[in-house]
Amino acid sequence: MDRALALLSVGQVVAIPTETVYGLAGDATNGEAVARIFEAKGRPRFNPLIAHVCDMEMAERIGVFDPLSRKLAEKFWPGPLTLVVPLQPGSGIHPLVTAGLDTIALRMPKGFGGALIGRLGHPLAAPSANTSGKISATSGEAVARDLGGRIPLVVDAGPTAVGLESTIVKVEDGRARLLRPGGVPAGDIEAVAGAPLLRGVTAGIEAPGMLASHYAPGAAMRLNADSVVKGEALLGFGPNRAEGWQQARAFLNLSETGDLREAATNLFAHLQALDRSGAELIAVESVPFEELGEAINDRLARAAAPRDNPHV
Ligand code: TXA
Ligand code: MG
Repeated sequence: MDRALALLSVGQVVAIPTETVYGLAGDATNGEAVARIFEAKGRPRFNPLIAHVCDMEMAERIGVFDPLSRKLAEKFWPGPLTLVVPLQPGSGIHPLVTAGLDTIALRMPKGFGGALIGRLGHPLAAPSANTSGKISATSGEAVARDLGGRIPLVVDAGPTAVGLESTIVKVEDGRARLLRPGGVPAGDIEAVAGAPLLRGVTAGIEAPGMLASHYAPGAAMRLNADSVVKGEALLGFGPNRAEGWQQARAFLNLSETGDLREAATNLFAHLQALDRSGAELIAVESVPFEELGEAINDRLARAAAPRDNPHV
């Protein structure tokens, strides 16, 4: 914590654990720090970052909360929900964070991140701690493997609890829109909002989580596989195996018992491990769409998408 604080207070970046995935954090009010984040990730500048806060007071100094956004914050913070709200004038947030938008994505992380922000006294801009377009890191080791040579410190707290990025929601005229499925299942948000979430993105928002190919491993991927060809790696889900699974070059199961929460925590690490097996193709058994399965299927679809997207 002290080493992280010392680096952050001079505009350096630090990889930190959050309950979702590891974040590459820098002081959101310091343009140099934010520029270093983009540089270390190789991230296109137009992609805005999430500002992480430690309490509601800090959140309301940065963003303008309508009643539903406040209710969702009260219910799910600290936790894996990001709210996109209008940016408060005079917030002190460096414009690189929002990529020039007049809205800002805010999240209050659990645990180490929240404590660190409280001691720093400034919000932290933190995208997932991975090279842009690659799989998010869910362990300190995965961060070090990917970004180790480019950043001065990785705070290692072992594997993250949720394993998927936060759910991103934006309230528009009193209705909540799902911008990215994630660690809070859509149904939980709908239960609090009292209405179904709007879906699909309105024009003009360029969210990298929305780019077709994102979270990509090196190997190609084949989803909803019910059989395996010799030499392929297999990512399983649940107790029943795809036909010919014994021929797989490598096999890992997201969850033996078909538990979606367990599957979420294993997703990125298993994809990375199967990628390292040297297989050219990773076959993936089907995962149901309910609960956290929506976010898991979202990440799998992006990982499987064609890689010729110039944004990645
Ligand atoms: O769980 C998480 O959300 C992790 C941890 C580190 O907090 N962070 C994360 O950040 O996933 P990142 O940068 O990989 O994804 C943030 C997403 C991007 O898709 C970005 O485009 C979107 O949030 N975003 C940021 N500001 C936005 C805004 N004003 N309007 C719409 N989308 C926005
Ligand atoms: Mg990311």
